[in-house]
Amino acid sequence: MPTTSHKTEPYPSELLARLRTCRHLLVLTGAGVSQESGIPTFRDALNGLWGRFDPAQLATQEAFDADPALVWGWYEWRRSQVLLCEPNPAHWAIAALADRVPRLTLVTQNVDGLHQRAGSPSVLELHGSLHRPYCRDCGHPHVPADRPCDVALEGASLPPPRCERCRGPIRPGVVWFGEALPRDVWDAAETAARDCDLVLVVGTSALVYPAAELPLTALARGAVVVQINPDRTDLDDLATFRLRGTAAQVLPELVRQAWPEAGFG
Ligand code: OAD
Repeated sequence: MPTTSHKTEPYPSELLARLRTCRHLLVLTGAGVSQESGIPTFRDALNGLWGRFDPAQLATQEAFDADPALVWGWYEWRRSQVLLCEPNPAHWAIAALADRVPRLTLVTQNVDGLHQRAGSPSVLELHGSLHRPYCRDCGHPHVPADRPCDVALEGASLPPPRCERCRGPIRPGVVWFGEALPRDVWDAAETAARDCDLVLVVGTSALVYPAAELPLTALARGAVVVQINPDRTDLDDLATFRLRGTAAQVLPELVRQAWPEAGFG
């Protein structure tokens, strides 16, 4: 199981050949893919969100019911941050991959919408989206403002808007702890994991299930699994290839090396 650090290019020729000839590529991304856009990850030791904030107070249905303004304000702060960020070369490279392989399924745990902004046409958002809030009571979608809101402070409370249909409180469109993933999205992701022949696992600690199951499912069906991460994760011992480096370093370089004639970037 080769480990290639970003500094020791070129990448293994077997990996490049597999990528060039793959039939169905699955890309699974986590918070690390957006880190170089300026969006904090969850479990980074220094500034990870779950080191600075308590998920039990912000990311559960109970938390929202207890203090809707605290929870809504925090998610509006995050949504505002994201609207001020831009996709980075990793998002662009993943979008470019879709033109180079016969079939690509992009599955993300991220809720930031940066893959779509980089041009990836269809994204399976396992954990929902900051940009699709909906009514807690009747499920009616709420269209958020398309610009950063005035929540400048990360702890600021902000009462949620009311549903135009039933007057219930609008909740963030993300999946909280204790909630099920959207069924159709999960089914499509799992089907892709069973069918694909190559998986790129990018910027995820691979600790949160069921998302972390997807590369294991693909491995068990004989797919090649490539881990792209500057740090170790539990997947390291299982991955077929490990590319040590940040997503914005590794992914564009991988596309350039696999398709040198196309001149990416
Ligand atoms: P984590 O914060 O758990 O992990 C981020 C991973 O990205 C780590 O393995 C880092 O080493 C890696 N990383 C950091 N910077 C990177 C970079 N520039 N390029 C590539 N990799 C980098 O985030 P997730 O695995 O996405 O769920 O977390 C999974 C879920 O846990 C999230 O979707 C969220 C959270 O609770 C919900 O909110 C439902």
